[in-house]
Amino acid sequence: MRRKIVAGNWKMNGSKDLARNLVDQVRAETGALDNGVEVVIIPPAIYVSDVVEQAGSSLAVGVQNVGQWQSGAYTGEISADMAKDQGCRYALVGHSERRQLFGETDDVVAAKVERLASCGLTAVVCVGETLDEREAGRAEAVVAAQVKEGLASVGADQWSNIVVAYEPVWAIGTGKTATAEDAQAMHASIRGVLAEIGAPAESISLLYGGSVKADNAAALFAEPDIDGGLIGGASLVAEDFVSICRSMPAGTKS
Ligand code: PGA
Repeated sequence: MRRKIVAGNWKMNGSKDLARNLVDQVRAETGALDNGVEVVIIPPAIYVSDVVEQAGSSLAVGVQNVGQWQSGAYTGEISADMAKDQGCRYALVGHSERRQLFGETDDVVAAKVERLASCGLTAVVCVGETLDEREAGRAEAVVAAQVKEGLASVGADQWSNIVVAYEPVWAIGTGKTATAEDAQAMHASIRGVLAEIGAPAESISLLYGGSVKADNAAALFAEPDIDGGLIGGASLVAEDFVSICRSMPAGTKS
C-alpha cells in the first residue's frame, strides 16, 4: 500500500503570519478528512519551527532543501539532522529551481538523498523534463536518468523513505498542467525505472507537480500511478490547498 501525499511547497514565500493562519486553517479543515491523505507543509526553513508548532500531529512538515554534508563550514546551509531535530519528516531534493538556479546536479541530489536516508527523513526527489526535452521526444529518457542517478545511493532498507515527484519544468508556475494521461504515462514509466534499479516500485509513492490547482487535482489523483501532488502556488491559499487535499480519492493506491 502506498502513502497518498499532498505536499505544499511555499518556496521563498510566506511570513510568520501566514505560517500561523494558513497552517491553522489547513489543520482544522484537513484533520477530519477520511481519504487517507498525508498533508505536508514545506515552508521556508526559517519558519519551520513556527509551522511545526502550529501543525500539531495531524500535519507533517518538511524542508525545501538540505546540504549534502553532515555538518561543518557551509555558511547558509542547513543539514538533514537539523531538519529532523526541528520536527521535520520530509525534505525536497532536486527541485527544478534548485537544479536550474543553484546548479544542483544528479550527483548532489544523490548525496542529499543519502544524508536524508541516513537520518530517517523522507526524501521527495523531484525530477522532470524541460519543454525542449519534451518536444525533442526525450522526456522519458531524461526523467529515467534523473531517477537512476538521483537514487543511486539508496540502500535496500531505505526505500520506504523515498518519494519521487514528477514535475515537468514547463508546467511549474506556468498554469500549464500535464494532462492526466501524460502525467500517468510518465508515472508508469518512472515506476518501471524504479523496478529496473531493484527498488520496490509498487510501494513507492509518486507525486505529480506543476500547476496543480483545485480544479485539476481530482483528474490527476484519479490516475492509478499518481499517489499525490507537490503543490506550489496553490499551497499558499488555504481554501485551494484544502480543496486539493480533498480531491484525493478514498481507498488504497497500489
Ligand atoms: P506550482 O509549483 O504548483 O506553482 O506550479 C509546483 C512546484 O514547483 O513544486
